[in-house]
Amino acid sequence: MKKDFILILDFGSQYSHMIARRIRYMGVYTLLYRYDISISYIFSKNPKGIILSGGPFSVYENGSPSISQDLFQLNIPIFGICYGMQMISFLFGGKIEKSKHKEYGKSCFIIEDDNNLLFNGIPRKSIVWMSHFDEVKKISKEFKVLGHTSSCPVAALRHKNKEIYAVQFHPEVENTEFGISILKNFIFHICQCKSSNWNIDNFVQNAINKIKKRVEKKKVILGFSGGIDSFVTAYIIYKAIENSLICIFVDTGFLLEQEKENILFLCKKMNFPLQIIDAKNRFLSKLTGIVDPEMKRKIIGKEFLSIFQKVSVTIKNVEFLAQGTIYSDIIESSIFSNSNQNQLNYSIKSHHNVGGLPKKLMKLKLIEPLKNLFKDEVRQIGKKLGFPMEILYRHPFPGPGLSIRIIGEVSEKKISILKKAENILLQELKKNDIYHNVNQAFIILLPIKSVGVMGDKRTYEYVAVLRVINTEDFMTATFSHLSYDFLERISNRIINEVDGINRMVYDITSKPPSTIEWE
Ligand code: XMP
Repeated sequence: MKKDFILILDFGSQYSHMIARRIRYMGVYTLLYRYDISISYIFSKNPKGIILSGGPFSVYENGSPSISQDLFQLNIPIFGICYGMQMISFLFGGKIEKSKHKEYGKSCFIIEDDNNLLFNGIPRKSIVWMSHFDEVKKISKEFKVLGHTSSCPVAALRHKNKEIYAVQFHPEVENTEFGISILKNFIFHICQCKSSNWNIDNFVQNAINKIKKRVEKKKVILGFSGGIDSFVTAYIIYKAIENSLICIFVDTGFLLEQEKENILFLCKKMNFPLQIIDAKNRFLSKLTGIVDPEMKRKIIGKEFLSIFQKVSVTIKNVEFLAQGTIYSDIIESSIFSNSNQNQLNYSIKSHHNVGGLPKKLMKLKLIEPLKNLFKDEVRQIGKKLGFPMEILYRHPFPGPGLSIRIIGEVSEKKISILKKAENILLQELKKNDIYHNVNQAFIILLPIKSVGVMGDKRTYEYVAVLRVINTEDFMTATFSHLSYDFLERISNRIINEVDGINRMVYDITSKPPSTIEWE
């Protein structure tokens, strides 16, 4: 059955992925694309509706991202959000200017004209989330104002004859009281999408069929990290091609204590054939002298790939490399987050674990069955497949492992210090029933030392950071509000039991503005 599809053009807003998640929750399939994909490509995707996201730009500035006016001739309903609204107005001849006061936070939105589908069932006054510098000062005569706030006279508008709507606020953000209803009105009433077409029930079978057809009699190696994403990926590929799948687990030397043994155990439980490659010395020597986080990641990505390529030539008939890449990896690494947007090529999907190698050197063809799913969707699949708790709710562990939790240069000594500290944290989280109430917890070893006193003696040791977060999709996160007693216990145990750390601090930042890992 053909799925109803909503296409989101991303102009770089920190909330763009939230639009996608909200629509997926409604049971409608959607994907984010960079704003500059061609009109013919958009048309070929046959979307039932198009959403233009917000973004940090000003439409009147030279070189700011824009779209072709041909988009408005496609006769597909369009919904502009924030920058998306300013751009629509601008392209139709309206006037956009910097507003006197930056409007950030909650505002009271007042509907002036409720004779439209977008605000169907929405009260005349409601709270919306604003985050903008610019605003629409004058609209073209083809448009009509639908609502305002006290400091923004044009907070919503629509085209008089076309299905083009726009709002200055962010309906995708929780703080917009009726945001979901507004999005639903657009998706179901204006675009007339049906909700049952996209769900995860038929996802697994479709993915298995596709892989079977694509791989035929060839072999696939899978970069297996031991997280839920790689387990679900392995399951799907294994069902498709059985023993033509070879799972490769690389021991980088940057693993947690007992990590390798745990993964072996779980793989046995799931019946997946696993090959372990010991590359500890190789990774450590490549990182000697390297301080820059991006350099570390690139070197590690390159090493991973070169290992996979080497393995692939030792096994006959290997033509594919599979990875548990998920949608957030793709969004975070390839849309706007790598700062120099002009140099980004949307077709190169850099993955955390394969950064750094030019595509043409990559002889293996990629298989990434989960690349359009969010983490919670992958978990739902795992649950449906009957995966055990230890796999479903394992905290994620990044491919570069402890190397990106040791800020600055990595050394054997620092790895050993961090491993011990992480192990204590894990024990305490489990002992106190906290492990499953938080989504990720780890320690970061800082490259600075501080003075302490132990047993009446001066110490001069490293500072370590405790990072514990709660999140649904790892794209936004809040630090976990742990009890002082628990924090104290962790701090005491680590300082008493781990030689090399004499001070612990707790990271109380959210994502954004920080990221979850420190590097
Ligand atoms: P950040 O630090 O980007 O992390 O907020 C989001 C989530 O991704 C994990 N992460 C990685 N996972 N390879 C991975 O497999 C990586 O290079 C990598 N970097 C970050 C991170 O632990 C968090 O769960």
